[in-house]
Amino acid sequence: ELGTHPHYMIKEINEQPQVMRKIIKEYQDDYGELKIDKNIISQLNDADRLYIIAAGTSYHAGLIGKEYFEKWAGVPTEVHVASEFVYNTPLLSKKPLFIFISQSGETADSRAVLVDIKKKGYKSLTITNVPGSTLSREADETLILHAGPEIAVASTKAYVAQIAVLAITAAVTARELNKVSDMDLMSELAKVTTAITAVIEDADKIENIVKNYLETARNAFFIGRAMDYYVGLEGALKLKEISYIQAEGFAGGELKHGTIALIEDGTPVFALSTQAKVDLNIRSNAQEVQARGANVCVVAMEGLEQEGDAYVIPKVDEMLTPLVSVVVYQLISYYAALHRGNDVDKPRNLAKSVTVE
Ligand code: F6R
Repeated sequence: ELGTHPHYMIKEINEQPQVMRKIIKEYQDDYGELKIDKNIISQLNDADRLYIIAAGTSYHAGLIGKEYFEKWAGVPTEVHVASEFVYNTPLLSKKPLFIFISQSGETADSRAVLVDIKKKGYKSLTITNVPGSTLSREADETLILHAGPEIAVASTKAYVAQIAVLAITAAVTARELNKVSDMDLMSELAKVTTAITAVIEDADKIENIVKNYLETARNAFFIGRAMDYYVGLEGALKLKEISYIQAEGFAGGELKHGTIALIEDGTPVFALSTQAKVDLNIRSNAQEVQARGANVCVVAMEGLEQEGDAYVIPKVDEMLTPLVSVVVYQLISYYAALHRGNDVDKPRNLAKSVTVE
């Protein structure tokens, strides 16, 4: 099954363009219109607030999904870590819809929430890669990710699939609510696919970033603002779980409120800039840490790039940049783990699906 790939993780990273094409095909009707099941559309239309429940990487995808539901469809959306929800339950709206995001569909923490909200009579939708999984069987409705089996413990293609399916679902919700949009999502997703391919073809260049920034690092920081902050959280998780380098994602503006104390000579800081409205802010955050000795690696989107940036991702719609920028972080994490001689596909202490609470 691995074919010529040395690890499942790199195979799955490389499959991402294919996954994007599959999703574009599965979620489109014969006329090229976005298509999802009508029961799901009516669930979404009836809800006055969405509660996204997930863990780990799927939670990070949920954070991006919230932006789509709120900015495109105008539907208030909250994102919750599954293991906290039962204890830190927020006040619920009158007509909530619960959306469970789970690659495996087996995460016990998410299932505990589903069992609980079903008892209370609330509606549920599971977005999963595994048809027939527990979360899929037990929820009212299911949307499938079509990412194909994900074997490596570190989730890569499922995250990209989750964001794409959330974007499509939010765009359909917006359409049904008669929200005007000048964006042709499917053609923008096709551009994203091309951009992901370009990043994958730059794997050697990204491996060099690892040589320049992470070879001897004991810790690393990922900063960003707006959606780039959420991608930083995912970049840090990916790096932690397979390279064992302690890594944290931070909102660029929060650095000065504490974290900056951790910056020493040579500390790697990855700064992402794909959002024009916060480009100047994140660049000044990057300078703040650089002035304190950090080894700053800027990843920027074409159009926002500056001299000295370590990597430039091709231009895509600003709302869709996480689908492309995350691939840079996936590859950085992969090579960092590889260079340390770690078991990339089966990191220590981790299981692919976490079926205990
Ligand atoms: C990280 C990772 C985990 C999972 C989390 C949720 O690479 O794989 O953080 O994302 O355990 O798993 P699912 O999506 O199967 O519910």
